[in-house]
Amino acid sequence: YKSIQLKFFMFKEDLIKALSEKTRLKKEEVEILIEIPPRSELGDYSFPCFVLSKKEKKDPKKIAENLKEELLKKKLKNFEKITSLGPYVNFFIDKKTLTENIIKVNSNYGKSSIGKKKVICVDFSQPNLGKPMHVGHIRSTIIGDSMMRIYDFLDYNPIGINYLGDIGLHIGKLIVAYELWLDKENLKKDPVGELLRLYVKFCGKEKSKVTEGMEEEFQDNEWTNKAKEKLRLLELGDKNATKIWKEIQDHSLKGFKKVYDLLKVDFNDWKGQSHFSEKGKEIVINALKNGIAKREEDGAVYIEFENPNTKEKIKKYILRSNQTASYITQDLGAVVERKKKYKFDKMIYVVDSRQEDHFKALFSILRILGYDFTDKMHHLKFGTVRFGKEIQATREGNVIMLEDVLAKTIEKAALEINKRKTKGDPRKVGVGAIKYLILKNEPIKDVEFSWDAALSFEGNTGPYLQYSYARASSIIKKADKENFNKKIKKIDNLDEYEINLVKKISEFPDIVILAEKNMNPSLIANYSYELAKTFNEFYHNCPVIGSPKESLRLRIIDSFRTTMKNALHLLGIEVMEEM
Ligand code: ARG
Repeated sequence: YKSIQLKFFMFKEDLIKALSEKTRLKKEEVEILIEIPPRSELGDYSFPCFVLSKKEKKDPKKIAENLKEELLKKKLKNFEKITSLGPYVNFFIDKKTLTENIIKVNSNYGKSSIGKKKVICVDFSQPNLGKPMHVGHIRSTIIGDSMMRIYDFLDYNPIGINYLGDIGLHIGKLIVAYELWLDKENLKKDPVGELLRLYVKFCGKEKSKVTEGMEEEFQDNEWTNKAKEKLRLLELGDKNATKIWKEIQDHSLKGFKKVYDLLKVDFNDWKGQSHFSEKGKEIVINALKNGIAKREEDGAVYIEFENPNTKEKIKKYILRSNQTASYITQDLGAVVERKKKYKFDKMIYVVDSRQEDHFKALFSILRILGYDFTDKMHHLKFGTVRFGKEIQATREGNVIMLEDVLAKTIEKAALEINKRKTKGDPRKVGVGAIKYLILKNEPIKDVEFSWDAALSFEGNTGPYLQYSYARASSIIKKADKENFNKKIKKIDNLDEYEINLVKKISEFPDIVILAEKNMNPSLIANYSYELAKTFNEFYHNCPVIGSPKESLRLRIIDSFRTTMKNALHLLGIEVMEEM
């Protein structure tokens, strides 16, 4: 990959090139082998020689020795020292050159053009209309938004899609409940709350009749059947059902938009599931015609395929017996339409890992149907958010609403800011705390939501990072402009804290690329925390204003600010100059 602007970014590339020449390993192989030593006394990069020793059947120590000698002859630019230790060759970056480059970084720092404007569709957030957004929903929204930002930063062309759950059994249930039990007054006062009340009441009635362990779609009891019937009427365009459906959509979309406004999350495409029922059915009918899909006696349509891992036969229904589209029918329609419309290079679904089987089936079915883009589709899975030991389940009504969580953290932020009498923005702080709380965890891991963690602003938290930025800003503000702008002629005698901070800053571009490749924003979150800690150590040990090294230190601090701002930007966390 080529960085837009940075020479020092080439340090590692030069190293890879030289190593590849000398070892006759491919560049890609070398890149994977290069390690970052655990302690900086051992160097900035190291190359283990085990692979070569296997190949050449020689002692890895000897190989390391020879390789070091060879590389020394080459006079690698930008490296001040090369040593060998046991089976490793260790490389020491020239810190002066590194620092010279680091103090030049600008607001583009970390950006790169590897994306080549390729289109990446990100299907994320996807709340179900009629149901509230609770803390269980927050991960898709925040992880998806961060991925969007990362793609944008790397010059991809990301398309954010909010695939609203605007149809499905829950809508059937809500319409039934709406007709039976709606409290109009309450709907006016608290629309989201009233819809939740209706939904929970319906689920309570239904619960006594459901067969445990059976998929909702196939439940055969009076309440579930009522909901299915409503859904059928809706698909047929029934006036009354459509009217109620529209009302439910309006009320609940308003609630969602409030949350998105607070989070500053937006989408390019808001097309919900219902838009793709027809397209999905068309695909199913074609599959029937081709003999790929089969029809059950009751009218339901299915495709049979083998689980590629277990070889076990799977029968997946792609149309309900009453000929309405189900979740997977719509997903089939949606991806085919998206491919046509956006010509995506990647289609990413940011969805709970409990839907893994659904996406596996979706990809397999598309493959069987002959669509050639299935290898461009990815399920970015994330684990559950628990509260205590409980999973948030709307049907039980025991949910913690996202709106309340945001309101509380923002309130707490306002209190803190008041105490300090500064100009911080409570929304930025509160939202930053929640976003960071979510993003610091690897997506795949389950997380536990606790009020304590959400309302804590110290240690490994969003506000701590924002604060380190504000602190850096205030140092620069206090400093003399002239000292700040002074041309830095010679850099020598860098101390440990300066070097550590410069090195940390220099890791940023690699981290961004890694986060993109692994679809894992937590890499950037954890990097940001390390960056803040390194800065704080620097700050506590290196006097700035009035020191003989004032100019250099100011410039390092400024580069820290730029890096922290960009890193937090990728997490969707806003910075403040004062806090
Ligand atoms: N709204 C769905 C749910 O809550 C998630 C949709 C995920 N996206 C998709 N294309 N299936 O279960």
